[in-house]
Amino acid sequence: MQRREFSQHLQRSAIALALSPWFSAAAAPADKSRAWRSNPFALGVASGRPRADSVVLWTRLLFGDEDRAVGTEALRVQVEVFADAAMKRRVQTTEVVTDEARGHSVHAHVQRLQPSTDYWYRFSQGDAHSTVGHTRTAPALNADVRELRVALSSCQHYEQGQFIAHAEIAKEKLDFVLFMGDYIYESSNAQYAIRKHNGEEPKTLAQYRERYEQYKRDPMLQAAHAAHPGVLMWDDHEVVNDYANDQDRNYTDPQQLLLRRAAAYQAYFEHQPVLLGPDANIPSNMRLYDQLSWGKLADVWTLDCRQYRSAQACRDPVRGGGRMVVQCDELTDASRTMLGHAQERWLTDSLSQSKRQWKLVAQATQISSTSIPTPVGRSYWNDAWDGYPEARKRLLQTVVDAKLKNVVTLGGDVHCNVAANLRLEPNNPQSPIVASEFVTTSITSRGLGDKPAAVIRESNADLLHYRSDERGYSLITVTPSEVRCDFRTTKFPAGSEAGLKTQASYVVKNGKAGPQAV
Ligand SMILES: [Fe+2]
Repeated sequence: MQRREFSQHLQRSAIALALSPWFSAAAAPADKSRAWRSNPFALGVASGRPRADSVVLWTRLLFGDEDRAVGTEALRVQVEVFADAAMKRRVQTTEVVTDEARGHSVHAHVQRLQPSTDYWYRFSQGDAHSTVGHTRTAPALNADVRELRVALSSCQHYEQGQFIAHAEIAKEKLDFVLFMGDYIYESSNAQYAIRKHNGEEPKTLAQYRERYEQYKRDPMLQAAHAAHPGVLMWDDHEVVNDYANDQDRNYTDPQQLLLRRAAAYQAYFEHQPVLLGPDANIPSNMRLYDQLSWGKLADVWTLDCRQYRSAQACRDPVRGGGRMVVQCDELTDASRTMLGHAQERWLTDSLSQSKRQWKLVAQATQISSTSIPTPVGRSYWNDAWDGYPEARKRLLQTVVDAKLKNVVTLGGDVHCNVAANLRLEPNNPQSPIVASEFVTTSITSRGLGDKPAAVIRESNADLLHYRSDERGYSLITVTPSEVRCDFRTTKFPAGSEAGLKTQASYVVKNGKAGPQAV
């Protein structure tokens, strides 16, 4: 496709979405009497983007063979919100119209809610009802909050384990789940598969939808979504492994990759409780990065490290993407970016001005260094922040320049539990510790082998904890006096029966950068 044609294609898609508001009730007939033959709510429910007065409620209708004909219609879906689990005290009822163009996904941006309040919700269409979900709003911006409890999670390769971590997350008492990406995997590795993806590697909207359908049918994943609101970010596998903006490992024509990315972004949107903001322009781009305040206790940023980044430095000319690089001058090119210039400016401004006690910077991957010495110099993993050292320095320099205390970064992607010191110059004891990092291991995805993990641990003094052998999530508890991280894990591959144990716990004390073991 020519560039002009391509851009027209994107504009048409974006305009089509922009012209069909989620709350328009004009297009679909009332159909309270519709009799469904199979449950259209088989993908479950979810809530997300909690604010003091609002939350996004999500579901997506699916059509069994007997109901296939309904799939071409626009449908009205009723959304009910209650103040109690018994669903006696109704707070709001609204209707959302959905249709084929959005995969019959439903996003209800429910507003005029009370802060720090529990709500229960369900969707109905004809004679079918969804399961009941629970959600909770954020505190008022000026509230004195004593505790924030978050499950930090990422990387859930369906084939490489059972979602037992989600079953345990569902049972936790939490304010929200912070999922930092790799929600689906596009790829397979038969060597580690304990269950199989349906279909081939997704490239089209229909294929990405099918992949999400398989993941979303998992009862343990559904339980976690039904139990807590989600604050969500994507990483690479929602599109394709190691992609960077419009580049992939195979050096696919960027225009072709952007078409694939657009299909993947649209499928992501259709399956998550995220908001399509007024400036959103899916599928050509979709702003997902966001900031959330939790009373006076914390500001939380969720950073997009894929959509706007420069390509990995010193890529292999045949097989691009992530790899270990040594003697790579490109690493020191200050024009290279992890966040893109607009997001980086937004973060710098927002972080510098934050007056809340804790500044939690959540992003998809690892900021601390995992470099290893070789006879010809240190070798760096070019897909994480080690591959963007100038961008990392700018981020940490912002912390120094604004004299920020209590900056804790939260990440995923690397399938490893990490507690680390963050210094302007990694691993240099002369360079002060300016922030603290926790990275969570994967829900299921296989981690690095024991030997390379040991070499990385021994080669990087800033890594206080670095274990890649177990799967799970991290419980982050924020109070005025500390941020605590409990790494909750089970063996690989994660089974459906195993319970999780605490692998290790670390705290960051108020006013003192650097995690401490407890
Ligand atoms: Fe991953």
